[in-house]
Amino acid sequence: MAESNNSTLIKIEDVSAVFQGITAVDNVRFTLEKGKIYGLIGTNGAGKSTLLNMISGNIHPTSGRILYKGKEINRSSSHTLAEKGIARTFQNLRLFGKETVIENVKVAGQGKFRYSVLQMLFNTKTYRNAEKKLNRNSFDILRNLDIEKYAERRADSLPYGIQRKTEIARCLALNPNLLLLDEPAAGMNPKESAQLVKDIREVHKKNPEMTILIIEHDMKVVMSLCDYIYTMASGKIIDEGTPEEIQNSEKVIELYLGHGKYAESKRA
Ligand SMILES: Nc1ncnc2c1ncn2[C@@H]1O[C@H](COP(=O)(O)OP(=O)(O)O)[C@@H](O)[C@H]1O
Ligand SMILES: [Mg+2]
Repeated sequence: MAESNNSTLIKIEDVSAVFQGITAVDNVRFTLEKGKIYGLIGTNGAGKSTLLNMISGNIHPTSGRILYKGKEINRSSSHTLAEKGIARTFQNLRLFGKETVIENVKVAGQGKFRYSVLQMLFNTKTYRNAEKKLNRNSFDILRNLDIEKYAERRADSLPYGIQRKTEIARCLALNPNLLLLDEPAAGMNPKESAQLVKDIREVHKKNPEMTILIIEHDMKVVMSLCDYIYTMASGKIIDEGTPEEIQNSEKVIELYLGHGKYAESKRA
């Protein structure tokens, strides 16, 4: 895609991740432009989650450079990056199961509405206003994702699809520049995943500046949602393009048919 400029949010330059001699991500380079929705597809073990983990600061590259808004973030922690606008969901859910849906979202959004412990203890106006605003914002997010009616329910009492959406809601509470979703439709039925596509589109319409990178196995989700798709196999990007280009890519077809040279994982 385009060279690095003002519209570039993430630039990945020859990034590798090696775990005990196993190369999970192998010299990958790509860019994410502001305001676009990207797909990252590929077989199991291709290195997709590892790549996402590096962008979010959960692990650090062995070599290469990751630039966010033109600045290197190779060694930044996930916490720092979340504050700077990179939010993510995990392949395995990480909710506070015993808390309600709305509490989960509020906790995530709290950092944005700063007030001191003293203000909170004495229930000052600043605190009350911040609390009101946080409440309003959190409910708005639930409404946008169509899960408002579950607000007061305990997260772990809800169907998996709703829990997944609650995770996305937690990310949105951070008002991110970059939203990274690791298999958000996993475990959803076709109706739920079709609704998820609609919801993500709606969220993006309301925040057109937000860049979204979505790892997903459900091709319907990827093809109907993404502007541009990267395909990984054995740690490398083997092809990239628009949904139409990817659907017609011989390399990708070969990969998914299962008898191409990329089909078998070469790792132990
Ligand atoms: N923390 C880790 N330690 C060792 N190996 C890992 C670690 N994380 C991932 N891997 C290995 O890296 C490869 C890519 O994994 P992953 O990024 O999870 O693939 P994907 O998300 O595409 O299915 C796999 O072989 C996996 O076993
Ligand atoms: Mg994965």
